[in-house]
Amino acid sequence: MRCFQMPPQVFRVVLLIFAIGVSYLVARTLLTPASFHEYGFYRGAALAEHTTRHEPVFAGKLACGVRHPDVLKTLAKGGHKNLSCEACHGVVSPQHLTDPTSNMDKPSGAICLRCHEASPSRPAGFRQIVVKDHYAEKCIECHLPHEPNEVP
Ligand code: HEC
Ligand code: HEC
Ligand code: HEC
Repeated sequence: MRCFQMPPQVFRVVLLIFAIGVSYLVARTLLTPASFHEYGFYRGAALAEHTTRHEPVFAGKLACGVRHPDVLKTLAKGGHKNLSCEACHGVVSPQHLTDPTSNMDKPSGAICLRCHEASPSRPAGFRQIVVKDHYAEKCIECHLPHEPNEVP
């Protein structure tokens, strides 16, 4: 009885597949960064690198208050006390932080609608208006943005 002999061309193919498999495993072991899969399918160390490389974008209410203590105080008294300045004024520009004469653009009344336009998705208790029944977009003619409870 002859025992089974693998034809030589099939044997070479099997050898080749085996060699590919082994080189894949070796490459994976050598090339995978140490922190890969620490949190998920990415390098865990990338998070730390990212936070050191990028400056925070928002300066925060207290940074604005250094040069505008009066506005900060006024804001803290009224219905907008929990808002940050940048929620309405946009992200502070680096020029504005270093050079007080470079003014930021003043927001218009249209900014108010971002939060106060009536929408079923907002909590029912939140003060909302239907713009077309409430004097169009001239909001700041009647409401002070920094102290919305007061009239100008
Ligand atoms: C609810 C939105 C809103 C918030 C929050 C807000 N502002 Fe304003 N701010 C405005 C609007 C609108 C104007 C433009 C008013 C105008 O044209 O009369 C303005 C004007 C200003 C001005 C120009 C001078 C003035 O008083 O009219 C300064 C300075 C200012 N804001 C600083 C700040 C600072 C600092 C904070 C945070 C402590 C802040 N604002 C928070 C909406 C806001
Ligand atoms: C980033 C969101 C946001 C923006 C923008 C915003 N508001 Fe408000 N507003 C609030 C919150 C939060 C409150 C307090 C919650 C409440 O009273 O239901 C409030 C309260 C108010 C109140 C009621 C104040 C009171 O206590 O009686 C008025 C009036 C008002 N805002 C007007 C405005 C006007 C005018 C503008 C535009 C200059 C504006 N808001 C922009 C979030 C915002
Ligand atoms: C002609 C003046 C005038 C203009 C312009 C105006 N308002 Fe009012 N707003 C009032 C008065 C007066 C009240 C209080 C009585 C009432 O609820 O109608 C009020 C109330 C509010 C309230 C509180 C509503 C509540 O349920 O307590 C919000 C929020 C508000 N306005 C936002 C705005 C926004 C945003 C704009 C711009 C689209 C705006 N207002 C334009 C006069 C005005």
